[in-house]
Amino acid sequence: MMHPIRLIVCCGLLLAVSQLDAFEAPPLTPGEAAAAANDYQRYCALCHGADRQGGVNDHAPSLRSETLLRTGFPEFILFTIAYGRRGTPMGAYFEEVGGPMNNDELYRLTRWLKEQVDVESIDLPAEPIRGDLQRGQQVYTERCATCHGAEGEGVSAPAVGNPALLALASDAFMRYTIEHGRDGTEMIAWGEVLPAADIDAVTAFLRSRETHWELTKPVLQPPPKVGQYVLNPDAPAPEFQLKDGLYVMAEELNRALQEKRRIVVLDTRVTSMWQIAHIEGAVPIPYYHDGIAGLTEDLPTDGAWIVAYCECPRAAAESVTRKLRAAGFQNTAVLYEGIQGWISLGYPVFVGELTEPPQ
Ligand code: HEC
Ligand code: HEC
Repeated sequence: MMHPIRLIVCCGLLLAVSQLDAFEAPPLTPGEAAAAANDYQRYCALCHGADRQGGVNDHAPSLRSETLLRTGFPEFILFTIAYGRRGTPMGAYFEEVGGPMNNDELYRLTRWLKEQVDVESIDLPAEPIRGDLQRGQQVYTERCATCHGAEGEGVSAPAVGNPALLALASDAFMRYTIEHGRDGTEMIAWGEVLPAADIDAVTAFLRSRETHWELTKPVLQPPPKVGQYVLNPDAPAPEFQLKDGLYVMAEELNRALQEKRRIVVLDTRVTSMWQIAHIEGAVPIPYYHDGIAGLTEDLPTDGAWIVAYCECPRAAAESVTRKLRAAGFQNTAVLYEGIQGWISLGYPVFVGELTEPPQ
């Protein structure tokens, strides 16, 4: 029942694939299931929803649709959680790449997701799906681009042109998704609308757009120490005009950083994303940070500006900022454009080293 994965593994990076037979194991014990449910609420509910329904933030997909669990369990789901989809808000949760979860926790969460939905996995063929690429492109433009984006970049639906998705998804997996849709979501069963040849064609078209994806291991950087949280501690504070009482625009934040003003910048994404790239000087305080108590002790209480940002552009940063405000921090703000907006405006980021030299 294992599905082929078009995965290139580099530099000694490997989720213990040898343990995949753990998925044949008996159901999770009540204790394991409770721990997995807890991990889910802590790490995933922000975007995928408390009931796994999807669409709560950043058009995160449903994690309870039968079609996904029938065809994506275990590897597709496990690897997506472990390594994320770079370029989308879906980060990598595996500690090996700077995330918060270890191997056993990832396996447990993947099994738990499956156990919440009462479906059998189905065997999908490994063979590539062939189809008329020109026709596939036409179908894509007419039927799919409004939600998935003209270039597959994702608008209100997943980025079907994303290299990490295309590396993890087999042709048969994608074809099955297109034919049967994802129950409970906007992704309808196109098999009821389009002839089989068109579904083949659009599947082949998606595959034809695949670009190389390599799983690389970042050289993990230590986060700043508590005493280093405040940037330019002796300089004057910036003067921000907040939009809607909450948002600071990228232009203003950039100016404050260029002028070396006194400020704290928080990166609220899953920590693996901070490892890849962050605004220089940003402190990784992820949205799932343990309680606000420990955090508030580390932050300046003298009214210094604290600006939080995330990928998305705002869900994670807003959640952290709400907690800070509730704890009495007054000068807090969320970067309006998020880090993706920041990068596309050409403002500087610190880029981590992505690959350890092969041994
Ligand atoms: C910040 C928002 C966010 C958080 C937090 C998040 N995800 Fe996601 N996730 C997404 C988005 C957005 C996508 C789709 C990405 C795309 O392709 O555009 C996604 C995709 C996925 C997929 C692929 C589903 C499919 O239909 O292909 C899985 C599985 C998944 N996430 C599981 C998780 C789990 C488990 C967690 C918690 C450990 C988690 N995610 C945390 C936003 C998030
Ligand atoms: C009305 C908007 C909409 C249209 C039109 C649409 N989709 Fe989707 N599609 C979605 C959504 C939303 C999801 C995620 C569903 C979920 O929550 O699992 C999705 C999921 C997918 C996935 C799975 C991606 C993943 O991350 O696992 C594929 C592949 C896909 N769509 C292909 C297509 C193709 C091909 C077409 C055109 C024939 C199409 N879609 C048309 C909204 C749409």
